[in-house]
Amino acid sequence: MRGTAVCCRSGPLSGAFQVPGDKSVSHRALLFSALAGSPSKVRGLLQAEDVGATRRAVEAIGAVVRDEGAFVVVEPPDRLCEPADVVNCGNSGTSLRLLCGVLSTVPGLSVLTGDASLRQRPVRRVMEPLRRMGAVLHARGGERVPPVVIRGGSLRGMRHKLEVASAQVKSALLLAGLFADGETTVEEPHLSRDHTERMLRGMGIDLRVDGLAVTVAPGRPRGGGTIEVPGDISSAAFFLCAAAALEGSEVTVRNVGMNPSRTGVLDVLEAMGARLSVANRVDEGEPRGDLTVTAAPLHGTTISGALVPRLIDELPVIMVAATQARGRTVIRDAKELRVKESDRLASMGEALVAAGAKIELFEDGCAIEGPTPLRGVSVHTRLDHRVAMSMAIAQLFMGGGEVSLDDVSCVGTSFPSFFSILDRLTTPTRSSSAGEGQGEGAKGTP
Ligand code: S3P
Repeated sequence: MRGTAVCCRSGPLSGAFQVPGDKSVSHRALLFSALAGSPSKVRGLLQAEDVGATRRAVEAIGAVVRDEGAFVVVEPPDRLCEPADVVNCGNSGTSLRLLCGVLSTVPGLSVLTGDASLRQRPVRRVMEPLRRMGAVLHARGGERVPPVVIRGGSLRGMRHKLEVASAQVKSALLLAGLFADGETTVEEPHLSRDHTERMLRGMGIDLRVDGLAVTVAPGRPRGGGTIEVPGDISSAAFFLCAAAALEGSEVTVRNVGMNPSRTGVLDVLEAMGARLSVANRVDEGEPRGDLTVTAAPLHGTTISGALVPRLIDELPVIMVAATQARGRTVIRDAKELRVKESDRLASMGEALVAAGAKIELFEDGCAIEGPTPLRGVSVHTRLDHRVAMSMAIAQLFMGGGEVSLDDVSCVGTSFPSFFSILDRLTTPTRSSSAGEGQGEGAKGTP
């Protein structure tokens, strides 16, 4: 269902808040628990559409998933079974790609599909290495895009060298490796998020990391434990970037995930001049802590190379912050942005240029010259939650101008409470608006 929204708030941002559970960790908690030898509990699971897609998928292959107070309990089947119907992953690339790895080992036929955005996203990157392991997969559009049809069977363990750093592809291959006849190694050009490695190891899997290569031995994850999901730093990033750039702001996000493979946004904000501090740090499992960001005059920076996979999902809102920084911010090596829920370089470039930003787009990134006052704009969110949320943040820099978002239903894929948290941290500039959108805030100020 579409829901339009007109954003009209002003800063500074102030307050303490929590964000919902980490999306990447939530997908893995459900899926790995479904492969385990005994039931597991998950605390802090993200309740949003993307994770709902993984939940339905694990139920389709035989797991039972129950809500029990603050926990979600996953009872794995004795043996994974052929799904009785097409598995619809909605907007979720993580669900679809990780499931390619698992379903390649499930006897029978599986079909994975998704919404109009997901059906344009590349799957060859995961299909080709799985085929080398002996899997049988086919996709639409010349083996390029979903739906994907999988005939499950036995797999060979082998060594893969990935061309792009992708945690989804790495994870799909490591999961397939759990069912293979020998060890499977995946080597990346740069480290992508390592939630799979941490969680599989925590569940007793024999997994070794040697530089950028991860090797897994066949085995069944041990269940029986409780998986703790920290707050999602990718969700927190919208408010952290806004607070860093908006004079007079200070926000604290509590219990947020601080896995070093995800904290590139913090490195960038610090490099741009923002003030950050961490309290109550916990380092076991998925590292987490309470993070405070205080505004300071920002200046441009360069983002490239190994830093990019550590902040890939935060780049849209970093682009917004860069419009407010003095000097030039350059983003390179980020071609992956073009194959996310939308082509994010194109979507964000178009929206920010229309808002008055000075941006030069490259095939693999952009250069942004700042600071620039922004003006009100109408935005096509293109089924892309992070474009919708980033442009809602951009509105705070418009001196009273408004952002009209044509469809904010996509925000429900990762962060249904985004607008109500934004309302709590900011001030509405008017009390009501025509075309009020779903997902909008508690104060009735879209
Ligand atoms: C994710 C990996 C990243 C990221 C996505 C979530 C994951 O994608 O952009 O939002 O949970 O593994 P890639 O693996 O394609 O880089």
